[in-house]
Amino acid sequence: MNQIAPTAKIEIIPPSAPFSEAQRSWLNGFFAGLLTTDGAVALSAEQGAAMLQRAAGDGDDGAAPWHDQTLPIAERMKLAEGRPLRRRMMAAMAQQDCGQCGYNCSDYSDAIADRGEARLNLCVPGGKETARMLKSLYEELDKAAKETPAAGGSAVALSAITTEPGRSRDNPVEATFVSRHRLNKPGSEKETWHIEFDLSTAGLDYVVGDSFGIVAKNDLGLVDQIIALIGASHTIQVRNKTLREVLIEDVSLSPAPDSLFELFSYLTGGKQRERARALAQGGDPDGDAATLDVMAVLQKFSNVRPHPESFVEALEPLQPRLYSIFSSHTATPGKLSLTVDCVRYVVGKRKRLGLASIFLAERINPGDGLKVYVQHSSGFALPQDPRTPIVMIGPGTGIAPFRAFLLERRATGAPGKNWLFFGHQRSDCDFFYKDELNAMKTSGLLTRLSLAWSRDGVKKFYVQDRMREVGRELWTWIADGAHIYICGDAKRMAKDVEAALVDIVAQHGARSTAEAISFVADLKKKGRFQQDVY
Ligand SMILES: Cc1cc2nc3c(=O)[nH]c(=O)nc-3n(C[C@H](O)[C@H](O)[C@H](O)COP(=O)(O)OP(=O)(O)OC[C@H]3O[C@@H](n4cnc5c(N)ncnc54)[C@H](O)[C@@H]3O)c2cc1C
Ligand SMILES: NC(=O)c1ccc[n+]([C@@H]2O[C@H](COP(=O)([O-])OP(=O)(O)OC[C@H]3O[C@@H](n4cnc5c(N)ncnc54)[C@H](OP(=O)(O)O)[C@@H]3O)[C@@H](O)[C@H]2O)c1
Repeated sequence: MNQIAPTAKIEIIPPSAPFSEAQRSWLNGFFAGLLTTDGAVALSAEQGAAMLQRAAGDGDDGAAPWHDQTLPIAERMKLAEGRPLRRRMMAAMAQQDCGQCGYNCSDYSDAIADRGEARLNLCVPGGKETARMLKSLYEELDKAAKETPAAGGSAVALSAITTEPGRSRDNPVEATFVSRHRLNKPGSEKETWHIEFDLSTAGLDYVVGDSFGIVAKNDLGLVDQIIALIGASHTIQVRNKTLREVLIEDVSLSPAPDSLFELFSYLTGGKQRERARALAQGGDPDGDAATLDVMAVLQKFSNVRPHPESFVEALEPLQPRLYSIFSSHTATPGKLSLTVDCVRYVVGKRKRLGLASIFLAERINPGDGLKVYVQHSSGFALPQDPRTPIVMIGPGTGIAPFRAFLLERRATGAPGKNWLFFGHQRSDCDFFYKDELNAMKTSGLLTRLSLAWSRDGVKKFYVQDRMREVGRELWTWIADGAHIYICGDAKRMAKDVEAALVDIVAQHGARSTAEAISFVADLKKKGRFQQDVY
């Protein structure tokens, strides 16, 4: 057998090949990673061509201006116009490197373009609109492949997803749910839970900054209502399980996928067929497309009774959900905790429940096992140098990774200064972990604790308002090399906090707005400004 020593340098690309030294070294590493144990390269002609083309330069400058979760998809696609297909695929993603698909955005798009990843529906923040755009870009890929004879051959997995148990969404392990308690006091408009798990039987560890993947199950009540609507028996066998088991464990019941509308368009006629077809193509014939989960579709097309097997086939796989880890494995080995905000809302007369948040808040019991994994975060971590000061901005559930950072710094005796900006709606009922944070302040672990309560006064007051108030001191910390972190809401908070940071740099760092923007961009590039937003 042709075993390769881990340190052996593999030379596959000859020095005469038309690549720079860096490209050649990268390609050698890439191909070495694909060598099978008998030394054969497990790469299709198409993948090889794609990799070579990319290494030789495919007209892409590496910048990704569309990598911004606050931009709508149409704008992101516009920014990617004229770029290689893989980059347009990246622009279709909802762009936060959130990790829910198991990749970062650029690796996921590369894997699709290289045909190492066939699942086009993994981008949770992008939902259906990202899946639709990826499908249409994938068709372009197919068309290009047909026009280029070399582009054929069977695809093999080029997945950047590790197969180590408990380290990826594709290979979860069992952990034990230990407890939950509500963090908000009476009078709060929020429902947020502190959740504890025991990882000892799973043998999992993690580092602070990582996220925890939860494989939740659908609600039995909802599943049984759906089974009644399709008029089937819950014990009928589908995919070697009962229909009820498949609907609880394997498929997503919200939102309704295009494939379900397609199925319904075959099973009905006349106006109903037209409406189902329009919905399958991303149309909105009745103005309710955004609210249609699987049950709402069955109610809308109430005369359609799909066969259980084709019904299940038309649904999307159930996706895991990620949560920022609130604990430190160094401080409390084998234990892991989260801060989870519940998703509950009403559409028409029906209450809609978030899958994983409600599973954790009310459907799992202490002692129960559940499938989990640790999603390692490569871009959200404590500074390597324990003396580096850190500024953490995390309103609401955004507190989670920062409590973990603080515990880690205490457990490792890190001498760096720590400043936390926390806030929420009301100080009397939404001050999570008040005693613990105050104790950290008293002990000196928290050098500064700055709070902002949005609904205590007549006017909204947010963390970025507090930051502006103490802008001079904040600038001093930044000038002294502090790393800055944001965690929490992606759509509004993170963007507004970043804008405040730019203002503070401009005002107290004596820079123009353009210079301040590029200063903050540079902090990001150097890894001194990191975000874990969702
Ligand atoms: C890296 C990362 C870290 C995260 N960390 C945390 C964390 O620490 N704590 C935390 O609570 N969450 C966190 N999240 C979010 C979390 O992963 C889930 O997205 C969240 O809990 C909702 O999941 P769910 O399954 O309960 O809801 P879902 O079943 O996914 O439902 C949510 C969906 O419901 C719809 N929806 C929600 N509200 C409304 C409304 N009012 N009207 C209409 N539609 C609505 C939206 O389409 C929304 O996407 C994190 C996400 C990422 C990517
Ligand atoms: N992707 C998902 O499915 C999903 C699921 C759950 C949560 N989320 C997001 O994650 C967030 C997490 O919720 P959470 O419970 O942690 O808290 P949150 O709802 O984000 O609220 C935390 C605090 O931030 C304030 N806030 C609102 N807008 C802000 C802004 N532009 N700048 C700064 N602060 C702002 C809130 O004030 P006010 O409320 O008084 O304005 C509140 O005081 C949700 O808002 C939601 O956007 C996403």
